[in-house]
Amino acid sequence: GKVAVVYGGYSAEREISLVSGESVHKALLSAGVDAYKVDPKVDGLAAITDQGFDRVWNALHGRGGEDGVIQGFLELHQIPYTGSGVMASAIAMDKLRTKLLWSAQGLPVAKHKMVSTGSLSLVEADKLLAEVNGCVMVKPIHEGSSVGMARADTAESLQQAVAKAQQFDQEIMLEEWINGEEFTVAVLNGKALPSIRVETPHTFYDFNAKYSSNQTEYHCPSGLSSDDEQALARLSEKAFAALGCFGWGRVDFMRDSKTGDWLLLEVNTVPGMTQSSLVPKAAKVSGISFEELVLKVLDTSFE
Ligand code: DAL
Ligand code: MG
Repeated sequence: GKVAVVYGGYSAEREISLVSGESVHKALLSAGVDAYKVDPKVDGLAAITDQGFDRVWNALHGRGGEDGVIQGFLELHQIPYTGSGVMASAIAMDKLRTKLLWSAQGLPVAKHKMVSTGSLSLVEADKLLAEVNGCVMVKPIHEGSSVGMARADTAESLQQAVAKAQQFDQEIMLEEWINGEEFTVAVLNGKALPSIRVETPHTFYDFNAKYSSNQTEYHCPSGLSSDDEQALARLSEKAFAALGCFGWGRVDFMRDSKTGDWLLLEVNTVPGMTQSSLVPKAAKVSGISFEELVLKVLDTSFE
């Protein structure tokens, strides 16, 4: 049948989604699938529902597309779509509620504090910092691709970082800064693919390190012992299932260098599918080409 690759959209990750959607569309065409691109921002929502599409390959990142909103719209129109459903998408887009669910199930997460509204005074900033070990990562809780994130270790830098994050979100999370390495694990049909270790000379794996730097290094296989790799795979599958995620996704981690502990960061329910994206790299290492990956993800819409 006819497949709509829905991409672009209205979120802060629109540009990334345009690239992901382009690659997915190309791969579907080359596999002989009758696929069309639809950008809700340009074409309108009716373009998804009124052209007789049998299913949607959802390539929307961020709010409106990865958070249960488009999923609910598609449910109402009875159009099957790839990936997680309404609830899991909504939770996974929310770094705070994700953490609450994981901690309730005994899964490992870093310490955090929330800033809900208004600007932060220097006195409040100082107090918050002291509660989270003096150094934090500031995150809008509903963003992706590191949009609006910054590190802070003084009251002044925290105040600035919170103001920056508040341009993107009402709810801001201060997460204890973790000195360690960043790992990510793609999950396909509930099963973990080989882990990837990301190395960047930047302070953290920020937007530029993700999409434009040529200094970012991706290690897959990641260099873990096979016991550690197994443990990480099981942890990823548990974390994915704990949120009720379905089909495919990517679980991001930090590994604390002092303790060796894994700390869960988040699940991306519509991970990037660009040239520099991670899931395609992990798939390739397990012998799954980009085209095969795109078809396997399409299959997640046949529930
Ligand atoms: N949020 C971006 C697209 C990712 O996780 O790959
Ligand atoms: Mg993300």
